[in-house]
Amino acid sequence: MANYSMWLLEYSYVPVQAISSVMAGQHNKGTRTISFTYLAIKGEGHNILIDCGTDASNEYTKKLSERDSITNWNPPEKVLANIGLKPEDIDTMIFTHAHYDHMDNMAAFPNAHFYIQSKELLGWIQAMSLGKKFASLQMALNPDDIVTAVKMLAEGRMNLVDGEKKNLLPGIHVYPAYDGHTYASQMVEVENDGGENKRIAIGDLAYVDANLLGIDNDGVYVPVGLGVGSPYNMMKTYEEILERAGGDMQKIVLCHETSNWTKYPSWVTKEGLHVAEVCLAPGQTSLVPVTK
Ligand SMILES: [Fe+2]
Repeated sequence: MANYSMWLLEYSYVPVQAISSVMAGQHNKGTRTISFTYLAIKGEGHNILIDCGTDASNEYTKKLSERDSITNWNPPEKVLANIGLKPEDIDTMIFTHAHYDHMDNMAAFPNAHFYIQSKELLGWIQAMSLGKKFASLQMALNPDDIVTAVKMLAEGRMNLVDGEKKNLLPGIHVYPAYDGHTYASQMVEVENDGGENKRIAIGDLAYVDANLLGIDNDGVYVPVGLGVGSPYNMMKTYEEILERAGGDMQKIVLCHETSNWTKYPSWVTKEGLHVAEVCLAPGQTSLVPVTK
């Protein structure tokens, strides 16, 4: 039985984000803070990251980060040090999707092998061929990342996954979500205790709890405010996520949601960023600092 420990690592945040960008159609509803994170998974002899954040030295990323008000960005060596890891310790990286805040910093991880849905990479190449009138499709994409991904493919470090893949690593499964937030996002299910204590990392399939639970928990799905596909596909994916989690939000890891910092044991680092201890494998001691 495979078991993994998981920590959600904040690498930056956006203090003032329009609610309408987080939840489609919710105009004049004000603003909120959203976190920018990646998820570290440790166990079965592997150090895995789900997504890798941005590369602050990339010129195109600088423009996108400024546009999006990315605040207090910290590099992976500082962020990972909070759980005793270095970027070179990461052997496997699974991308939920190719948006720049998720797939921009591959170069910082020299020993990682990468996994992305085949249709995600091909979809973005197709989108890049459509010309300026369709540029809005790419508003959260850094085209440099697609070039890097193809280079990694040529070097044998990028693996394309075609749809559902059980046991990508022992007890870690991926499930695609087509033509919703992106062309082929994927959620990553970490089985733990044969599923009893599973966690499902959903990338940006939902940004915040309310996408899945509805406004004021009214049970009406609210699609995220950015997508290349249909709101209907997004909502069908919400149905799938909740079904896989048995309706238990503790099992669903949302990477932009600030409620993670109260949902799981967490702490604030000296850089002013959060770390949440999402789950612990048997034998792994907690990394949450003991406060006296
Ligand atoms: Fe995204």
